[in-house]
Amino acid sequence: MFSRYKKTDARDTKTAADAAAKPAPKPDAPAAPIAEKPAPEPTAKRVEARRPAQVAPVDKERRRKERLSDIKVEMHKRLLEDLNLAALETATEKDLKSEISDITTEFLSDQGLVLNREERVALNQELYDEVRGLGPLEPLLQDESVNDILVNGPQQIFVERAGKLQLSDITFKDEKHLLRIIDKIVSAVGRRVDESNPYVDARLADGSRFNAMVPPVAVDGSLVSIRKFKKEKLGIDDLVRFGAFTEEMAAYLQAAVSTRLNVIVSGGTGSGKTTTLNALSSFIDNDERILTIEDTAELQLQQTHVGRMESKPANVEGKGAVTQRDCLRNALRMRPDRIIVGETRGEEVIDMLQAMNTGHDGSMTTIHANSARDGVSRLENMVAMAGIEMPLKAVRSQISSAVNLIVQASRLQDGSRRMVSITEITGMEGEVISMQEVFRYQRTGLTPDNKIIGHFTATGVRSHYSERFRMWGYDLPPSLFEPTNPR
Ligand SMILES: Nc1ncnc2c1ncn2[C@@H]1O[C@H](COP(=O)(O)OP(=O)(O)OP(=O)(O)O)[C@@H](O)[C@H]1O
Ligand SMILES: [Mg+2]
Repeated sequence: MFSRYKKTDARDTKTAADAAAKPAPKPDAPAAPIAEKPAPEPTAKRVEARRPAQVAPVDKERRRKERLSDIKVEMHKRLLEDLNLAALETATEKDLKSEISDITTEFLSDQGLVLNREERVALNQELYDEVRGLGPLEPLLQDESVNDILVNGPQQIFVERAGKLQLSDITFKDEKHLLRIIDKIVSAVGRRVDESNPYVDARLADGSRFNAMVPPVAVDGSLVSIRKFKKEKLGIDDLVRFGAFTEEMAAYLQAAVSTRLNVIVSGGTGSGKTTTLNALSSFIDNDERILTIEDTAELQLQQTHVGRMESKPANVEGKGAVTQRDCLRNALRMRPDRIIVGETRGEEVIDMLQAMNTGHDGSMTTIHANSARDGVSRLENMVAMAGIEMPLKAVRSQISSAVNLIVQASRLQDGSRRMVSITEITGMEGEVISMQEVFRYQRTGLTPDNKIIGHFTATGVRSHYSERFRMWGYDLPPSLFEPTNPR
């Protein structure tokens, strides 16, 4: 079986036919040489493993674990060197697993190490993950409760669960191992990462967003961040249930999106911008034509008439880049009712503002900013950076007529994600863009275990768009805009 996936030119002289004919007992040939391992160690340990007699049980267990960890490394290396990776592409999961199980059985008996069933299953799974998947990262990718995976060099992997970052007990063997996994990911999408090209963005096969930066730019070992792709995106009801905003705010947002206000979701990194944008999109009518443009396709719109675009970085020769701006310009020729840009972060801002001003009402995007006011400054800066020579007042006037609403998402210090403010842009006063906050999250304190105490409230101002809402059939009750007491 092994023969099917084994490289024909492998170091091992065993031929395919030999392997098939002699599956079980292996001649006393040594295991494949392991580069990273000090040479005399295995024999000494092997003897120990066979004669455990006088060793204290705890010590024995510890050594067994160490030995197991060594075995894993040796096996990983051996598998990767010996297997014919091209043939593996087509191997079924079942075949490959039984192949790996045969190899471990042989190898363990060679090494004189007896594993219980659980350990053996775990070892086989890890080897399978190494060959087929992303090695130590694989269990984290499978774990539904993990949102984000952050790797700071080979020995430190943080995960985010339920809004909290925790150090996991998973590690890579060393930087070489980590680099091999990074390389596997980026080469699968036709990219390269090395000293001269030290960072890369990619999308994993399951849709997760991946970014890596390797040494020497990453000083203490490669840095990796993965935003896990969720098949089931959080919807409006989930977000209300999780306390991200209230039903009243949801009713207001429904009116805003349905009546085609242009909305910007602003927030810090990982604050829930994309999730909010995705949830807001559920208020769009099913018969509208929507085009989405993203650097990494994350949005999952439920409507029927959706065209999705993903920008593309240059290839290794520096050619073939398709920017978000290219996509956006093209999108304008594709008769969209609405355009959704995953995140506006550069020169595409010009086309986004123009689209919002010229008949594509109801367009939406996100920006990286800490408040609505800050968001507007970001837009101004982006316009300036795009090299557009326009007086500031004209830029502001364009922004104020393009953007109707800024929704501020935030990840608070206790890990909870909330829509801390909904702000309307109401026009210009002199040189300044005027805005009014309609809803906000009012913090009132902190519990002894550092959970934030607070409540959502309307600010008491009447929506600038009340009349528009009413005309479109969204007659929001005045009580919706009255400040609420804590519930
Ligand atoms: N209200 C919420 N409650 C719980 N989890 C949430 C909430 N909002 C978002 N999340 C989760 O938080 C993670 C980050 O969310 P999201 O991708 O929307 O953030 P982002 O602001 O777009 O991040 P980035 O700046 O990296 O693009 C996701 O895993 C998402 O499922
Ligand atoms: Mg995002």
